[in-house]
Amino acid sequence: MYLIFCIAPSCRRELTLARRQTRKLMTLERKLNERSAHAAVIGLGYVGLPQALAMAQAGFRTTGLDVDGGRVANLMAGRSHIEDVPAAQLRRFLRARRFRASTDFGALTAADVITICVPTPLSKTKDPDVSYIRAATAQVARHLRAGQLVILESTTYPGTTEEIIRPALEETGLVAGRDFFLAFSPERIDPANARFTVKNTPKVVGGLTPRCSRLAAAFYRQFVDEVVPVSSPQTAEMAKLLENTFRNINIALVNELAMMCDVLGVDVYEVIAAAATKPFGFMPFYPGPGLGGHCIPVDPEYLAWKLKAFDVKARFISLAAEINTAMPQVVVSKVAEALNAVGKSLKNARILVLGVAYKRDVSDLRESPALTVMTLLRARGARLAYHDPHVPRIVINGGALVSVKLTGRLLPSQDCVVLLTDHSAFDVPRLVAKSRIFVDTRNATRGLERFADRIVKLGAPSALLNGVRIEAA
Ligand SMILES: NC(=O)c1ccc[n+]([C@@H]2O[C@H](COP(=O)([O-])OP(=O)(O)OC[C@H]3O[C@@H](n4cnc5c(N)ncnc54)[C@H](O)[C@@H]3O)[C@@H](O)[C@H]2O)c1
Repeated sequence: MYLIFCIAPSCRRELTLARRQTRKLMTLERKLNERSAHAAVIGLGYVGLPQALAMAQAGFRTTGLDVDGGRVANLMAGRSHIEDVPAAQLRRFLRARRFRASTDFGALTAADVITICVPTPLSKTKDPDVSYIRAATAQVARHLRAGQLVILESTTYPGTTEEIIRPALEETGLVAGRDFFLAFSPERIDPANARFTVKNTPKVVGGLTPRCSRLAAAFYRQFVDEVVPVSSPQTAEMAKLLENTFRNINIALVNELAMMCDVLGVDVYEVIAAAATKPFGFMPFYPGPGLGGHCIPVDPEYLAWKLKAFDVKARFISLAAEINTAMPQVVVSKVAEALNAVGKSLKNARILVLGVAYKRDVSDLRESPALTVMTLLRARGARLAYHDPHVPRIVINGGALVSVKLTGRLLPSQDCVVLLTDHSAFDVPRLVAKSRIFVDTRNATRGLERFADRIVKLGAPSALLNGVRIEAA
């Protein structure tokens, strides 16, 4: 009797707490399923803006928060800075009051779900720079209240959600998994990919607790066709790094294969096309001038950095980085060889670069190998110009260059034209027809055998270079 008297109040307290947690979960889950929840997205870049509009499209009142006041003002005026987000769509959601952008993080208080989509670059010493994640988390902590769901989407090393976000948010006195819900869900957006969008790209979700996973999954199911729950945030973080490391290493493999084909006098593109006819166990990747963008060259370094603390060396990652970062130099050597074949040198050669963005049909210059190729060409004395319909201006060695107009007279006046990014706006047959030498780093000239006398590719024999091949010793 005495025992029952003593235990009963604490049991009652626990019961009340459990009931409250269940109520919080049910309330949020209901709001998510009814799409009456208020969503907030921190960071309105390539990832955050399309995400925010997908949420708005599903019916959520969505607030996008960014520290860049100019970006926010443009968005509120209906101007989109992301190619995949048409201004008309943005304006429609602004008019319907389903989306708004702001620099006022006070809006987080009203949010039921908060996603964090801020940059995760590398520092100068190639270590992860998680300062943006820390800053965004500090903002969330300032406005955190019970019952909210917080989801990190930025690509980062395994452990970030539990080691950085959880403690920072729990400093408020609220407990993750009990008072608020926490998850990691990597973003897989592929800029300029019209086939795979936020909606039809499956979303991996790893919650801190089963309740966190259940809520995060319920949220994404409202605007993503397929949600893939995994057992923890760390598993989800690692899955994203596997995806991008897989790509990074396979690109390194074909880059090395291209160099092997150069030596052997075999066309690497023909080799890849033949191998790709195997209906199982093979996936084609293609060589190029080097890696670019905010993801593929950067993310594997996050994994390698994390493993250093365990005295584990990520050997594939470091070998792939060595091969991929050498590719701009390989391109420069090809240009030098091509000029040499017509009795010219790099020094003082007029060289026109086509495409400087890191990939087709985007304006993103981050980590673009074109900038390295151009820096190296200039260091060898070349006189550079460039054209990119998506990038009006770049800075090379501290000096600004402006994208030149592709006039009828420009191409024949150049000693060499180097295609580094194969934007779909380029009329390649016309460009090749007017060029004296055309160095193609993307196999954009396939099918143009009639111009074989002037085309030089990475990893393929060239008539201009007299099919020069190095004989085995
Ligand atoms: N770009 C891609 O193709 C892609 C694809 C998948 C995943 N990712 C990952 O998504 C994350 C975001 O990448 P992105 O390409 O969208 O970057 P981005 O640079 O295009 O956009 C990031 C935005 O965050 C804003 N920002 C920075 N600090 C902030 C803060 N403290 N509070 C609010 N806003 C802040 C910036 O002003 C910018 O508008 C990265 O981790 C990246 O690795 C990117």
